[in-house]
Amino acid sequence: MDQYSALNQIKILKKSCKVCSQLDIELLVLHILKIDRNILFRDNPLLTEENYNKIVKLIDRREMGEPIAYLTNNIGFWNLSLYVDDRVLIPRPETETLIKEVLCLFDSRERWVLDLGTGSGAIGLTLAKERPNWNVICSDVSLDALEVASKNMKQNSLHVTFINSDWLSSFRNRHFDIIISNPPYISPTDSRILSDGIKFEPLKALVSELDGLKDLENIIEASSQILADDGYLFVEHGYDQSDRVVSFFNKFNFSDVRQYKDLNDDDRVCSGKLKRC
Ligand SMILES: C[S@@+](CC[C@H](N)C(=O)[O-])C[C@H]1O[C@@H](n2cnc3c(N)ncnc32)[C@H](O)[C@@H]1O
Repeated sequence: MDQYSALNQIKILKKSCKVCSQLDIELLVLHILKIDRNILFRDNPLLTEENYNKIVKLIDRREMGEPIAYLTNNIGFWNLSLYVDDRVLIPRPETETLIKEVLCLFDSRERWVLDLGTGSGAIGLTLAKERPNWNVICSDVSLDALEVASKNMKQNSLHVTFINSDWLSSFRNRHFDIIISNPPYISPTDSRILSDGIKFEPLKALVSELDGLKDLENIIEASSQILADDGYLFVEHGYDQSDRVVSFFNKFNFSDVRQYKDLNDDDRVCSGKLKRC
């Protein structure tokens, strides 16, 4: 094997890494060379000095704990490939639970659907792909996030409408059939926000006052004013917040309140149906 071949250099670089795994280095090499894994193993291309230096810089950032998705600007979510950078939360597998339940409950008939706090666009764009007849609106208070989500819409050849809004404040005269949100729900005093990976993500996407529940309560209350009759709200929440979240759904007159578990068997999603008397 040539000394400067990618596979040989991956092996050598791995020896001086503490955080960066062999797979991480492979992903960084694929990202810099803009090739897929088959080509890496079939052709074992040579690394130019320029590419080698770029890879070393990314490995250094990975060694400091930066998530691999920010270094490669890419994450797979459901069946989409999404661009991500440090302006948006990296979409998590738990959020796919939310998508799965919404798709199980609703067929492809035309509906008005709102993804509140869209970030990278993960939820809204996935629903637009799975249900082309739905009118999907994606909103966020962060213009930076909307820029990333819009890039992802184009990258995946989808169509949704973007609105810059502080939760539901711009939607006073609208009625939605489904509202979905994965809001910030970590308490400002929770030490997780300083942990590796998470500390690189935007605080505004993670943290909410009142033990992490302020935005959840705000969204559940405001949705009860804006949902169509028989409309549904779905929210993601923390693994230890399900009782409080269910109590908000009951307080704001939702019926058919349901909880859903993630892959770790924790209650992480709650839904309710709005029945106007
Ligand atoms: C936990 S992230 C979720 C991102 C994306 N929906 C996902 O599931 O990957 C929460 C999002 O809510 C947005 N957000 C925070 N406060 C908001 C507010 N007051 N109004 C609207 N969006 C807000 C953040 O900018 C962030 O994009």
